[in-house]
This record gives sequence, structure tokens and C-alpha cells, in this order.
Amino acid sequence: MGEQIGRTSEGLSRRETLRLLSAAAAVGIFGEAPSPAPAAMRARPIPSTGETLPVVGIGTWRTFDVGSSPSERGPLEEVVALFRERGGRVVDSSPMYGRSEGVVGEIAQKLGATESLFFATKVWTTGREAGIEQMERSARELRTRRIDLEQVHNLVDVRTHLPTLRSWKEQGRIRYLGITHYSSGAYADVEQLLRSEKLDFLQINYSLAEPEAGDRLLPLAAERGIAVLVNRPFGGGDALRRASRTELPGWAAELGCRSWAQLFLKWILANPAVTCVIPGTGRRRHLEDNLGAAEGSLPDESARRRMARAAAAAM
Ligand SMILES: NC(=O)c1ccc[n+]([C@@H]2O[C@H](COP(=O)([O-])OP(=O)(O)OC[C@H]3O[C@@H](n4cnc5c(N)ncnc54)[C@H](OP(=O)(O)O)[C@@H]3O)[C@@H](O)[C@H]2O)c1
Repeated sequence: MGEQIGRTSEGLSRRETLRLLSAAAAVGIFGEAPSPAPAAMRARPIPSTGETLPVVGIGTWRTFDVGSSPSERGPLEEVVALFRERGGRVVDSSPMYGRSEGVVGEIAQKLGATESLFFATKVWTTGREAGIEQMERSARELRTRRIDLEQVHNLVDVRTHLPTLRSWKEQGRIRYLGITHYSSGAYADVEQLLRSEKLDFLQINYSLAEPEAGDRLLPLAAERGIAVLVNRPFGGGDALRRASRTELPGWAAELGCRSWAQLFLKWILANPAVTCVIPGTGRRRHLEDNLGAAEGSLPDESARRRMARAAAAAM
């Protein structure tokens, strides 16, 4: 699957065009300089359209479920601002994540970043009407008219929601549809859906701590032309915390890894079936670290095996 640094060769997306037009309008009307264009990050295509996505995104579970005080919001505003500045686009959330959708939606709006971000959220309820209500609420919380990616969370009532998602996609209320899970216990059901349904995205756990999706699901997603978002890249954080107690091997620097987090992420990104990885963080320092994994080269198979051995010994 092709990979690019920066923009799609097909030219500007509709969103980018709108963003540039609105920036131009701002200059024309108010004489203001537009905010600097985001930096380019390594990007990969969504197979169903060819639109490219930067390879490091951000998850919002727990980290964005905060109140409205400046001490809670300030660090997250910094995170979203840095993310955008460095060319990040994919932000993953869910109605299951407490206040997260509303918090990230409000911050994005305040920063004028709503249009440039790629909002992925989920439907996590049973019943058609409840699903529709939840998706409408998500759009309000994210402060967007159109959700980029709507996913059926943990396959909850998936057969009911997929027809709704298809109809919303036809109406242009969502741009892409997909399914998510986080546990190998559900892989047989996930596999069956990948084979039988036309999906744009699969979101699944895949990491040095939980590598099983690499056996069948990721090759199948590639074969079926389905983009992959990787959740739990640090095994939910525990695997990374355990590994970080051991010193990073000296050879990691030769692979462009300055931290265990980068080693975990580069191992994931080296799988060509992966479109984007979405580590969860609410800290600027950690985001900076994670974004670093998009830079430089990616390990080959023998380097990946070496990384896996080192991580297994350290975790
Ligand atoms: N079924 C599903 O659809 C599903 C399930 C699970 C997750 N998800 C999505 O995937 C995202 C990622 O998964 P996750 O949040 O469960 O787990 P994760 O990304 O594997 O780990 C997150 C943890 O790692 C820490 N961390 C992040 N970057 C770090 C760094 N550079 N150095 C040290 N620690 C770092 C974070 O703490 P700090 O905040 O302190 O940085 C947080 O505690 C979620 O936020 C969510 O959007 C979806």
C-alpha cells in the first residue's frame, strides 16, 4: 500500500480547499494572516477512496473525559494545538468515553481546527432509533455537521447499525463507516464481518503486547481494501509502563526510536496494513514523543523481530 509524506497526489481534499478558501477570505475581509499551515506527516491512503491520513492520530478514552476548569482543559488544548500544528488529523472518540466527545469538539472549535481534523467516533447502543439519536448527539458534541468516520463500537448491535450507517453515508452525514473491537475474544466475529460487509475501516487492538490481529485480521483487511486504525498501541498503557522500567536498547536509536513509546509505535506502523495508530494521551510531552514515531524510516521484518524480543523481555 502506497505511503506518502504530506499531501495526496490527487490534489487538495474538499476540506483542505474549504480551509484554504476560508483562510483566504479571512485575509481578504479582515486583513488577518491565516494560521500557519500544518506540517506534513507521513500519510497513508484509505483504500476505499485514496484520501490520505497522517499515520499518527490520537485517542480520547479517559484522557479527554474532564470537566471545564482551566486546569483540566488547558493541557488538552495544548495537546490538540500541537497535534494540529504537527499535521495530525485523526481524533478517535465515542459516546462511551464520558465527556470526551464534547471536550475535544469544544477545544477543536475554539482552536478553529474542526475542519482540518478527521473525527472518528462510534455508535454504542442497541436499537435503530437509539443509534440514530446517539449519532446525532455525537455530531452536536463534536460540533460538526458531518462526522468523518462512524464506527460500530465493540460490534454492539452491529447488524442494526450498519444499514443506518450506510444510509447516513449516502446522505453525506458521515464520510466513512467501520467497526471496532479491542479484544481477541471477538476476532472470529470481526473476521466474519470483514468478509461479509463492505466496510471502509476496521479499528482493532494491535501492539507488541497484543499482536494477534496481525495473524489474520490485518492481512484480511488489506485484502478487502479496508483501512485500519490501531487502538491500544501500548496495551492500554500498562505494557509501555512495564517496558519503560528497562533501559531502551542501544540499537533502538539506529531504528530512529528515542523512547519505548516510539519503539512500540514504529513496530505497529511497519505493518503495511495499518493506516493510522491512535495512542491515547492528554500530555503534550507524550504526544510529542508519539508523533516522533511518524518520522524517519520504519523497521524491516528482522528489526521488528528484534524489537518484539526486546519488548517481550522488558514487559
Ligand atoms: N473498542 C474500541 O473501540 C476501543 C478500545 C480501546 C481503545 N480505543 C481507542 O484507542 C485509543 C488508544 O487506546 P488506549 O487509550 O486504551 O490505550 P493506549 O493508547 O495503548 O495507552 C494509553 C496510555 O498510554 C499513556 N501514554 C501515551 N503516550 C505515552 C508516551 N509517549 N509515553 C508514556 N505513556 C504514554 C497514556 O497516558 P498519558 O495520558 O499520561 O499520556 C495512557 O495512559 C483510546 O483512547 C480510544 O480512542 C478504542
